[in-house]
Amino acid sequence: MSDKTVLGFIGGSGIYAVDEMDDVELKQVETPWGKPSGPVVTGTLAGVRVLFLPRHGPGHAIPPSEVNYRANIAALKILGATDVISVSACGSFREELSPGTFVIVDQFIDRTHARAKSFFGTGLVAHVSIARPVCPKLADALEAGCRELEIPVVRGGTYLAMEGPQFSSKAESHLYRSWGCDVIGMTNMPEAKLAREAELPYASVAMVTDYDCWRDDIADVEVTNVLEILQQNSQKGRALIKSVAPKLGPDRTPSPLGIETCLDFALITPPDA
Ligand code: ADE
Repeated sequence: MSDKTVLGFIGGSGIYAVDEMDDVELKQVETPWGKPSGPVVTGTLAGVRVLFLPRHGPGHAIPPSEVNYRANIAALKILGATDVISVSACGSFREELSPGTFVIVDQFIDRTHARAKSFFGTGLVAHVSIARPVCPKLADALEAGCRELEIPVVRGGTYLAMEGPQFSSKAESHLYRSWGCDVIGMTNMPEAKLAREAELPYASVAMVTDYDCWRDDIADVEVTNVLEILQQNSQKGRALIKSVAPKLGPDRTPSPLGIETCLDFALITPPDA
């Protein structure tokens, strides 16, 4: 892997582009898993190579279940990404995680069920560990960036990935709270799993827009009542992207979890099979 950082950003709802990138080019990438959500914007931010991919495509036309997560991760890998940072909207299961808070999640519960989840399959079987799905080096940089920008931030939290596109019922919302989940969203899985299979360190900043529907004293989540906070969060999210790039490059330090070589221990099909 390169000793120079190439940071891949996957932007979610409200984050469709980054200003102030230099040497900007749009790259159309074909992968063995099909096309990614759109052209990848490549360039530099503060002298660091960055790649930017809006997860829902130009104009937010791709729903969470239709995102080609494999092609997105593969496209970033093909373009030389060394690390991947996801920036996405989420609902909150904790009173103290109020709208506007950025949660640097460190665990996921995957309740999605209608998405391709692996690069491996019949003929080539592999089992990577997802015990620690987030790279602490990337999470450190995200936390430091939030603190510098005075964005309310919480380090650590469990993200429940749901299939959607409908929001949860109240029964589901209470169930996820009882499981100890902190935030909920529709996109970080299988993205985080695929990043690990691609040996790409991954971290996710989940930007709280709402309290889902577990509170009786606050309106249940609806698109119309989260738009304003989504706008505010996305401005801060773009500022965060600019502030983390120079913290992670141009020179790269490896992930303390050894993610760059995790497939060395994961393939179970013999090489000559
Ligand atoms: N994204 C933002 N808010 C959400 C919620 N309450 N549930 C699922 N995804 C979300």
